[in-house]
Order: sequence, then C-alpha cells, then structure tokens
Amino acid sequence: MKRLLISSPKGGCGKTMISRNLAVAATLENIKVATLDLDPQASLTRWWNRRAEERPPIVHYQGTMSDAQDAMAEITGHELLIIDTPTAVEEYPQGMKALILGADLVLVPTKPTMDDTDSTMEWMTMLRSYDRPAAFVLNMAKLRARSLSETKRRLNAVGRICPIEIAEREDMHRIGAEGLGILEVSRHPGGDEISGVWQFVKNEMGA
Ligand SMILES: Nc1ncnc2c1ncn2[C@@H]1O[C@H](COP(=O)(O)OP(=O)(O)OP(=O)(O)O)[C@@H](O)[C@H]1O
Ligand SMILES: [Mg+2]
Repeated sequence: MKRLLISSPKGGCGKTMISRNLAVAATLENIKVATLDLDPQASLTRWWNRRAEERPPIVHYQGTMSDAQDAMAEITGHELLIIDTPTAVEEYPQGMKALILGADLVLVPTKPTMDDTDSTMEWMTMLRSYDRPAAFVLNMAKLRARSLSETKRRLNAVGRICPIEIAEREDMHRIGAEGLGILEVSRHPGGDEISGVWQFVKNEMGA
C-alpha cells in the first residue's frame, strides 16, 4: 500500500481539498483508495459523509494525531492511503514523525503568497531532513501572474514543486459541499489540474 501524506503548517492552503480530489482521481481509475482524516475539525470526514453512495467508493477512517502511529500500522489492505492532517502540526511531533517516515510521498500545498511560502519552506526543509520524498503543490494560484513564477523560484530553492498548479476556482467550495471531486463534474476546467497533480503523485510514488 502506498501512503500519500498531505501536510502543511499553514491553515486553509488546500490540504483537505487536495486530499479529497486526489482520492476521487484514484477511485475513478479503480484504485482501491482509502482516506484518513487526522484533523479534529473533520472537514474531510464531513465531505465523505456527504458523498452519495452510488459514487465510486472511498474507504474512510478518522483518527487523531496522538494515535497516528497506530493508525499507520493498523490501516492496511488498500492500494493507496491518503492522509489529511491538521494545521497545528508542531503540536504533535511524535505523530508527525511516524506519518512522515511512513509516507511514500509528502505533498505540501501552498498558496502563492509570501506569508504562506515562508512557513511552508521551513516545513519542506524539515521534511527533507527525514529523507522522504516531498513536493510542494501550488494552490489557489492566479495563473499567468508574475507572482506565481516568483513564488516558484523561491520554493525551488528548498524542494521539488509539482509542475501542475491548481488555480483559484470560485466553485471549489460548492463541489466539496456536494461530496464531489472536480473530476466528477463534467468538463470542469479544474479537472485537468487535478489529473495533472494526480499523474505527478503516481509518478513520484511509483504507483
Ligand atoms: N483552488 C481553490 N480555489 C478556490 N477555493 C479553494 C481552493 N482550494 C481550496 N479552496 C477553499 O479554501 C478553503 C480552505 O481549503 P481547505 O479546507 O482544503 O484547506 P486546509 O489546508 O485543509 O485547511 P485547514 O488548515 O483548515 O484544514 C475551503 O473553503 C476550500 O473549499
Ligand atoms: Mg483541512
């Protein structure tokens, strides 16, 4: 089983949005995917609860950062496990360490702002000290803006960057509210971005 960890010390950068959309991308390819929500705010769990039964299946688990290590040992039997984490990662050093060491890839979503990249760059440096594969993925990007290429140059100094960024999409919230992934919305322009990030993830994990 491959494990994809979605993690960032910054709130609201798209961890849960990316977790659910990549889970949908995987299940649409008939991959046996499970999600694990370790955030007490449980946004991913609420999304999963809203998902209609006839949608392609995703197995879901809920846990806490304090028992992250046990969850990593106990959750087996899937092809892919996607783990969504809370923001206050520094409060759970032991749980976080277990997640990082068990991950086949750590994705670090980041908004293209100076505030976000300052803390995510430090986070990436910490992740790399564990010698696990990790990459940034830019979210809520204003495509073609100069700030985007400047941000990429900054991030590139400390770690890998997924070459496909996710644009700011007005209806992102509504799609989530319906328990859907973007790839389940016919001809949605954000679908290509999610497919691109998913392809990157698969290549990186050797899946
Ligand atoms: N690309 C996007 N375009 C527009 N809205 C987005 C995008 N990505 C995420 N959002 C919205 O921004 C908000 C924060 O996203 P999300 O909940 O995925 O972040 P998070 O990192 O999981 O936050 P938290 O730290 O609170 O867990 C949500 O309302 C989500 O729908
Ligand atoms: Mg979240």
